[in-house]
Amino acid sequence: MARPAASVMLAAQNASSRMADRHTPFVFDDWYVAAFADELGPQLLARTLLGRGVVMYRDPEGRVVAMEDRCPHRSMPLSAGQLQDGQIVCAYHGMRFNAEGDCVHVPSQATCPRSMGVRTYVTLERGPVVWIWMGENETADPQRLPDQDWLTSGDWETSKGYLPLKASYVRLQENLLDLTHLSFLHARSFGTPDYASAAYETDIGEGHFVVRRNVVPTTLPPVWAEPTGIKGQGQAARIVRSEFRSPGMHEVSVSFHDCTLPETDRPTFRIRTAHLPTPETATSTHYFVVHGRDFAQHDKAMTRFMHEQLFVAFQEDVDGLALQETVLARTPPQELYEFSVGADGPSVAMRRYLLARANAQGSTDASRRVL
Ligand code: FES
Ligand SMILES: [Fe+2]
Repeated sequence: MARPAASVMLAAQNASSRMADRHTPFVFDDWYVAAFADELGPQLLARTLLGRGVVMYRDPEGRVVAMEDRCPHRSMPLSAGQLQDGQIVCAYHGMRFNAEGDCVHVPSQATCPRSMGVRTYVTLERGPVVWIWMGENETADPQRLPDQDWLTSGDWETSKGYLPLKASYVRLQENLLDLTHLSFLHARSFGTPDYASAAYETDIGEGHFVVRRNVVPTTLPPVWAEPTGIKGQGQAARIVRSEFRSPGMHEVSVSFHDCTLPETDRPTFRIRTAHLPTPETATSTHYFVVHGRDFAQHDKAMTRFMHEQLFVAFQEDVDGLALQETVLARTPPQELYEFSVGADGPSVAMRRYLLARANAQGSTDASRRVL
């Protein structure tokens, strides 16, 4: 079959149109990583988050400030200005704004215009990351922040990194729930041939999408074989739990053990990875990653080794998703169809959920359009 019949293509198109994609408005009412905590200090950092320009810094007390990166006078980016005593001085006409976004000084007159100010955002600092609520400030709900004790407990040795991704965050979230790609896209890094066909279970509910995959027995690639010491052919168990936590967080938990040792006498090695995608534009994403392990906590050489190997693999996702986005961009919408298979079940459900969340918040609001 060179090309499916028109009716089949139409059915595939219709199925795709019920899922979030690069044209779907962002989900604003949620938490996203705005920056790593150590990126923020007494200097201005500009970043586009969910299509909006945001400028961030720390005030003299170390508190994180985030506000719209646009001067309310004549729309100069505030990030082009100067930070003085925790206040931004606009680069154009020198108006000054405090950490609450209020205008506190206009050089050409004695008083500020009434109600002149800049929109600020609610932020939460948790361990290595700073989260930002991109919806209205009154709706900011700390309860919606995904539980992430391991990131802040100190019991896990962590490393972190950032990857600029030239693709929609939807496709990254899809990639993370579909681990069959490890055998192919990651064939030269942390994938193994048996991964794609290994038994798996799914758990799908409202906003809850989990895939468990037991790759047993298997051979570990160097990134896991070296730190665990489980190096024999077909000697290892690799038990993976992959969970969508929110539009801005996906968590992968993996445990490894040596299958040749008795159950009562074998160590278990656990690793976790927080994948933290924050949409930049419709087709670009800030991809923050924090990786952790619960063994050999103070072995910095091991941390370096694992970090380097892992980020080679994550770069394979970034490169692959950018290629995919290029094809999506050049395919006329009326000709775009995609078929799903059984393993896509959780990601299809997740993309439907994102679409429902986006539609529920009012797609007619012009300020929420996808850029
Ligand atoms: S544009 Fe900022 S002070 Fe005029
Ligand atoms: Fe991947």
